[in-house]
Amino acid sequence: MELKDKVALVTGGARGIGREIALLFAKEGADIAICDVNAEVLGATQKEIESLGRKAITGVVDVTKSDQVDGFVQKILDKFKKIDILVNNAGITRDGLLVRMSEADWDLVLAVNLKGAFNCTKAVSKIMMKQRDGRIVNMASIIGIMGNAGQANYAASKGGLIALTKTIAKELASRNVRANAIAPGFIQTDMTAKLSDEVKGEMLKFVPLGKFGTVQDVANLALFLVSDDSAYITGQVVQVDGGMVM
Ligand code: NAI
Repeated sequence: MELKDKVALVTGGARGIGREIALLFAKEGADIAICDVNAEVLGATQKEIESLGRKAITGVVDVTKSDQVDGFVQKILDKFKKIDILVNNAGITRDGLLVRMSEADWDLVLAVNLKGAFNCTKAVSKIMMKQRDGRIVNMASIIGIMGNAGQANYAASKGGLIALTKTIAKELASRNVRANAIAPGFIQTDMTAKLSDEVKGEMLKFVPLGKFGTVQDVANLALFLVSDDSAYITGQVVQVDGGMVM
């Protein structure tokens, strides 16, 4: 077991990539805290974790609200006494060409994808610094590296998340807290299910491995980045994209 008796907080962990990460970490021995705005599926994910023999705590928390984040982090501390791992995974899209993008869609995507990570990292890194141990993984995207027409808000948020990752890696390294980013390519989840078959077909042409990624592909990388196997790796952006961007 790679994460025996560790405590991990996964944001946006009720479904999709975050859920898979939470389940894999639990299989590897970690107790899990999940926050999400999707109250409907949170309970089911909590039960799945508990059925793996690990403890779980969930909270309906909007990561854009620092008071909600701080309150949930305190609850995790009350229950588990520590937080070893933070995965800033909560993310949304509100796509549209720049000239038609509303200010509200710009603000919302930046708030969830970037400010949410800031709120959670600020709350949790104080604990990790005291512990002199911690691992942070930020869920960026290859769109944050390459840009994408129709995703100005999303690309800016993920590019910002990459810059945030490198900065916290530098600020926290002396306290033995590592921070890395994952940049997934096209992963099959509810978020991407809404794309048309035509768009999916076009995207596949740019993936050398010739297939879309799975949530397991991303979770396996997250596990590596929070385990001792990556003890000398910090401030990096690791792509899991079938070779789409190289
Ligand atoms: P998803 O939509 O299935 O899951 C995202 C989760 O975040 C949901 O459970 C949602 O309720 C939660 N969430 C949304 N707003 C929130 C908020 N304000 N506070 C707390 N939780 C909130 O999406 P998926 O595909 O699992 O994506 C997970 C992460 O991976 C996102 O950050 C996304 O940008 C990133 N990503 C996904 C890719 C893909 O192809 N699916 C590719 C690259 C990056």
